Amino acid sequence: SSEADCEYPLDSYFEWQIVTMSKIINGDNLTLGTCYYPEHWPKTMWREDLERMKKTGIEVIRIAEFAWSKIEPEEGVFTYEFFDEFLADEVGMKVIFCTPTATPPAWLTEKYPEVLNARMDGVLLRHGARRHYNYNSPVYQELSARITGKSASHYAKRDCIIGWQLDNEINCEVDVFYSESDTVAFRQFLKEKYGTIDALNEAWGTAFWNQTYTDWKEVYVPRTTISDSTNPHEVLDYTRFISASARRFAKMQSDIIRRYLKPGDFITTNGLFGNLDNHAMRRESLDFMTYDSYPNFAYCLDMYSDNPKNLRDRKWSRNLTETRSVSPVFGIMEQQSGANGWNTRMEAPTPRPGQITLWTMQSIAHGADYISYFRWRTCTMGTEIYWHGILDYSSRENRRIREVHDVYEKLQGMQELAGARYEAKVGVLKDYDNIWDAQLDVWHQRVDEASQKALFEAAQRTHTPLDFVYLTETTTAEDLAGYSLLFYPHMTIVTERQAELLKQYVAAGGTLVIGCRSGYKNSTGQCVMDTLPGLLSELTGTDIPEYSFIAPDAGTVTVDWDGTTIEASVFADLLEPLGDAKLEGTYTSDYYSGSGALVCNSYGKGKAYYYGSAWNEMSAEIFLQKLGAANPYRDIVTVPEECEIAVRSKNGVRYLFVLNYEKHPVEITLHRKGTDLYTGNEIEGSQTLDGYGTMVIRL
Ligand code: GAL
Repeated sequence: SSEADCEYPLDSYFEWQIVTMSKIINGDNLTLGTCYYPEHWPKTMWREDLERMKKTGIEVIRIAEFAWSKIEPEEGVFTYEFFDEFLADEVGMKVIFCTPTATPPAWLTEKYPEVLNARMDGVLLRHGARRHYNYNSPVYQELSARITGKSASHYAKRDCIIGWQLDNEINCEVDVFYSESDTVAFRQFLKEKYGTIDALNEAWGTAFWNQTYTDWKEVYVPRTTISDSTNPHEVLDYTRFISASARRFAKMQSDIIRRYLKPGDFITTNGLFGNLDNHAMRRESLDFMTYDSYPNFAYCLDMYSDNPKNLRDRKWSRNLTETRSVSPVFGIMEQQSGANGWNTRMEAPTPRPGQITLWTMQSIAHGADYISYFRWRTCTMGTEIYWHGILDYSSRENRRIREVHDVYEKLQGMQELAGARYEAKVGVLKDYDNIWDAQLDVWHQRVDEASQKALFEAAQRTHTPLDFVYLTETTTAEDLAGYSLLFYPHMTIVTERQAELLKQYVAAGGTLVIGCRSGYKNSTGQCVMDTLPGLLSELTGTDIPEYSFIAPDAGTVTVDWDGTTIEASVFADLLEPLGDAKLEGTYTSDYYSGSGALVCNSYGKGKAYYYGSAWNEMSAEIFLQKLGAANPYRDIVTVPEECEIAVRSKNGVRYLFVLNYEKHPVEITLHRKGTDLYTGNEIEGSQTLDGYGTMVIRL
């Protein structure tokens, strides 16, 4: 195959104007669904299953994401007999139909082994599991486009169909691709980006270690090298390439479905995975994002920790915050309803009584209006025989189906909050280049992992709602203006456009806090030769004459911030203020003692801080407190640290969620009258929340 075979150019960044209105995420309803696999059950069970779902309160099913062979049992032979027969039984159920491209059939991979993904050393990933294809094989693109078109033309106009899921969990399981088609497409991607091989050599810094290329043919996707130390600038471009390839594959499917989509129906995909710019994929191809939420992973044998500092299932709020950054109101395509387990993985226990409700309300608190439980019934065959659904193998009435029904009843009192937006005044800025740079650069990674965890957990424990705010090609100063406080923990790569945006945000009155190791790379991932922090110097009024990892024998390195002691973590940039900027914090340990640790610069109507270190939870809490952002709802409610609070608001009305992640009951105090939406009762003052209990209160 050659590049000319690529029907869909990689560089297709044009913007979709999303015109459709969805039937489940339309601001009117909170809806329940489930994932159903008619191909796993005798036909005689279908109708009873669907009727029972409806009695339970489930109005939507997702089907067909792994069922390619039911539709195209042999190459070019298409039949919808199986799904037509199933849908004849639909009893008024709404249906999300999927493209089946996550699992190519055996006939396909046998005839066209070039569609398979490969390991870095070239060994092909074979039939037998899933997601074993690559996005760049022209024949896979063609066969995927064909089945997508066939399904869309067959089903899109049908009444029961309300939307489409593209593939399943794009970039899940494996998010690196090393097939021959990937190399061909990578070369094309690089040619479009750089034009000449000399420009590529320059961007990749190939003068180092004699890596200079003289022809595009010499360029490959990363290959096995000594000590895995492939050129970092190449790896950064390769990661961008994977993302572009996945997006193009999604867009190819979405463009086809959109030709047939009936008004009001939607296109989505599920999950958030690595090496993929989900924001761009959403803009180009999706009406909204859905996420697959399995908080029970926190109770896996190898992840569980008894340490009360471990947020456990509450950590899933971080993923939900990520999802919200992609789609302010979103869906959960797969919500935990049973134990986790594969035949090869022990994984996590059955949700305790109350946890299905807790995790459902956690999703809704963060912005989900659609919740679909994975899966209706536990599968009796295959790798996922222990990944439990609502029902066990026997279908007997159980505690979990009763709890799902109880969730449905609770939702009936909460319908008015559909479409409401999560409220946050504090944001953590991110962008994909920096996320990807942190993957390949351990200096960046160590500070980033520490700070991301610390800021999120400090915000949780101080009851400070937090958003993740991505700087994308389309972000404007207005998008940032709603936040009173923004952190960019470690903005290693900075572009002129981003620096300008941050200046506008601060000049208009915002408070920006930048952490160590910022501004030292350009978008190739090469280090800049300016004085640090490079493009952020003027805004932060900071100069960094010296920096170092905190040496392992340095002990605890402390900083005095106007009389408050905080602990520096991982790294120390030693700072000097420039111009009128003020030194607010000074190191008080080791040879750093007396050097600047925190600079504050007034810029326009706002302030920019540069903090010379990474955060731990304590220093993050102190920043939230000192900058006046912690616990903004303290006048409304007092809750213990182990509970999460969230507020969604709509038409000037606020809805307060209180979520208790602990086994034991807790007391909360409501300082004003509100309506408990589960009961409809007016409440005020002290309230008891059961273990794993939740409350939703109209304020
Ligand atoms: C998800 C996936 C489902 C199922 C589930 C449990 O990641 O989308 O198909 O595999 O996990 O393993």
